[in-house]
Parts: sequence; structure tokens; C-alpha cells
Amino acid sequence: MSATWPRRPRLVAGNWKMHLTPADGAALAREFVALRAADPAAATSAVALCPPFTALSAVAEAVRGSGVFVGAQNMHAELKGAFTGEISGPMLASLGCRFVILGHSERRHVMGETDAMVAAKLRSALRDGLTPIVCVGELLAEREGNKTEEVLVRQIAAAYAGLDAATAKTTVIAYEPVWAIGTGKVASPEQARDAHRVVRATLDQVVGGGTGSDVAILYGGSVNAGNAATLFLEDDIDGALVGGAALEAAGFWKIAAAAAVAR
Ligand code: PGA
Repeated sequence: MSATWPRRPRLVAGNWKMHLTPADGAALAREFVALRAADPAAATSAVALCPPFTALSAVAEAVRGSGVFVGAQNMHAELKGAFTGEISGPMLASLGCRFVILGHSERRHVMGETDAMVAAKLRSALRDGLTPIVCVGELLAEREGNKTEEVLVRQIAAAYAGLDAATAKTTVIAYEPVWAIGTGKVASPEQARDAHRVVRATLDQVVGGGTGSDVAILYGGSVNAGNAATLFLEDDIDGALVGGAALEAAGFWKIAAAAAVAR
């Protein structure tokens, strides 16, 4: 991905969550880079590896010069200050991070992050030169209560209100139904497509300027080497945010390659 942001880039991001030491993370990154280098025709989708903070340096070193990007899983909105245990955007950028995942459901529902916190982090990531991957998605009870659209509209409106279209188009959104994360229960391509359309329509209302059709939206939640290609057939799905299946190089490479083939 060059300095000029392409319209709706194909992107596959691996969210390693709280897994792997620097040494183990670097080994996984090197294995992935080797697989990708051996198959240049399939290496046209952008890929980001998102290890824990402690492995960012080692993974950035392991992918240096390969074209594979590095991302963080969270950041604090402030530049610096008395925020024990937190990491700022400039700190991440200084380690070679290009991306940062924001508002992941585990942060919203386990760590108590609010829509307002995600909105503040989104603005800070843009300030700090990081490409935010903004996560949205409904809980199982919300889906079963026919509240999926309401939740997506609320989360997108809170995060994107006041952003101009040119800026909003340089962000990435990940639709991750919470009931599909780490459960093995992947959303059907139709469920994912419908949710992505809600997100696009909401962006058109909240931001305007063609944002809905131009922003990249990834699907996340139990994506693996076996189901990725089918999801990528959907026009509204621009890539994937992958958790468990990103911890194994060959499988994660299959997902990234499927994203490249699909467009
Ligand atoms: P999963 O996680 O692929 O293990 O379901 C996805 C995510 O949490 O981003």
C-alpha cells in the first residue's frame, strides 16, 4: 500500500491478541513472509500482522522490506502523560506500525471501552499517521433482538461524526459480529454482506462524499483458510480481520492469497 491510499484496498489483518513472545512472533512473521515471497502472483492483497505491543519491534524487524505491514491492537488517545500501562500512537509509529486496531469487541465488552473512547482514538490515530481499523459489531442478543442495524449505526455514527470524507476514506472498518469471534461460527456471506451495506449506508449519511462506497470494510469472526474465499466473493467484503487462524503461517497465507485472487 503506497503513500496515496487506494480506493477500497484489499487487506487481510492478523490479530494475534495476547499470543506469542517477540521470538515466537518474529519466527511466525518470517515464515509468513517466505510463503508470500514464494507466490508473488497471489501477493497483491495488503497484509498487516498485529502482534501484542511487546512483539511489535521484533515483528517489524522480521517483515522489513517485505511489503508486509505491522499493526497494533490498541492505543491511547493522548500523546503522552500519566496513563500507567498505556501506549500512545507516536510510540507505535516509532516502532514501524502502519495500522492500529481500534474498538475491538474484546476491548469494548471486556475492557469497557465506550463509543466515545473509540471516537477519540480514531482521531488520534489519524493525527499520529496510523491507519485505524475501526471494529464494529453486534452481540448475539442484539442480533437475536433484531438490533444489528441499530448497533452498527450507533457505533459508526459515534466514531465518524465530524470527519471529512477524504479523511474517512483512509480508514478501514472491520465488521465483527461478536457471536462469531473465536467461536467457530462464521457469519454467512449474506449476513456479512448485509451488515457491510448498513455500514456503507451509515457512512454516507454521517460523512457523505462517497465514503460508503470508497471505504474498505473487512469481515472478522472465525475466518479461516476454508471459508475465506467464499466470503471474499461478496463485493462488499474487502478483506478480513483474522484472529485464531492468523497464528499459523500456512493457513493465514491461504487467507491472504484468497483475498488477492478475489478481485
Ligand atoms: P477470530 O477472531 O478469527 O479468532 O474469530 C477475530 C478477531 O477477534 O478479530
